Amino acid sequence: MKEQILALLTEKQGAYLSGAELSRRLNISRTAVWKHIKSLKDDGYSIAASPRRGYCLLGKPDILAVPEIKSGLTTRVFGQKVSFFPQLDSTNEEAKRLAAAGAPEGTVVVAEQQLQGKGRLGRSWISPPGLGLWFSLILRPPLLPARAAQLTLVSAVAVGRALRVATGLPFALKWPNDVLLDGKKVCGILTELSAEIEKINYVIVGIGLNVHQKPGDFPPELRERALSLKMATGRFFRRAELLRKILAHYEELYFAYLEQGFPMVLQVWRELNCTLGKEVSVTTTEGSFRGTALELSEGGCLLVRKASGEIVKIMAGDVTLCCDYFDN
Ligand code: BTN
Repeated sequence: MKEQILALLTEKQGAYLSGAELSRRLNISRTAVWKHIKSLKDDGYSIAASPRRGYCLLGKPDILAVPEIKSGLTTRVFGQKVSFFPQLDSTNEEAKRLAAAGAPEGTVVVAEQQLQGKGRLGRSWISPPGLGLWFSLILRPPLLPARAAQLTLVSAVAVGRALRVATGLPFALKWPNDVLLDGKKVCGILTELSAEIEKINYVIVGIGLNVHQKPGDFPPELRERALSLKMATGRFFRRAELLRKILAHYEELYFAYLEQGFPMVLQVWRELNCTLGKEVSVTTTEGSFRGTALELSEGGCLLVRKASGEIVKIMAGDVTLCCDYFDN
């Protein structure tokens, strides 16, 4: 109900909406309206209340509470269920717990702060409160487990597109799923899978987006390599709005991918990527080597040509663009 009140007040764009009108449109008592308004104020919304004119939304805090996320959401599946936590171990872990308990596709788990945020390849992901968007999405694609890795690239394309639209800046994709600007990382994606031999139970897509950080907010070892939207644009972005945009782009691409297959995702990934044609350093569980990133395979693997001429197919690993060392 809070999100409906918020949506109606937002629609008025700074004008008053009477308590009687709210109570009529939402079919609740004036006292219930007043209670929900009070609760919105407790969440940090600035709402003017006048006995004769009603209520007027003056300002929204940059909070990730459920009503704020859901008000204005344009999706049909993604984000229809949202769980918000001020603090979590990791949104991926909570999403796994919810998925194992039967949570439907599209469920989103958001945390203001993660205490044990997880990065790819066993790294940790620093997730302080108030600075970024840390969330996970539960997917239940009707695919064979062998195709789950493709979802990593679907995620990267969706986030890259959403950030390009939101900022007007040319965000680029580094294989498999980092989103970069000027060679610096703005967003990381961690995809985790629960599957049987012939069936995916669920996929958790965890997305970490740097939003409000200043350079000093990153640990010294990341300062040369990490960037926030604030640093990239000088502008302020509301995290709930970014989340809605990412969910909208993601939902559109995901269902198009399920219907049309992977080639259309590959095509857009190629347009947005900053990996192909570059000298790269590759680290996999089997060791490290350098080479030239040549192409993506039909399954989304990276093909790298070593100096010896041998072409290696990388299914999972870490890629560093060698030119980064010279650019930065
Ligand atoms: C990477 O680039 O290494 C992936 C980082 C993924 C971080 C996000 S933040 C939300 C979700 N929960 C986690 O614990 N990790 C992902």
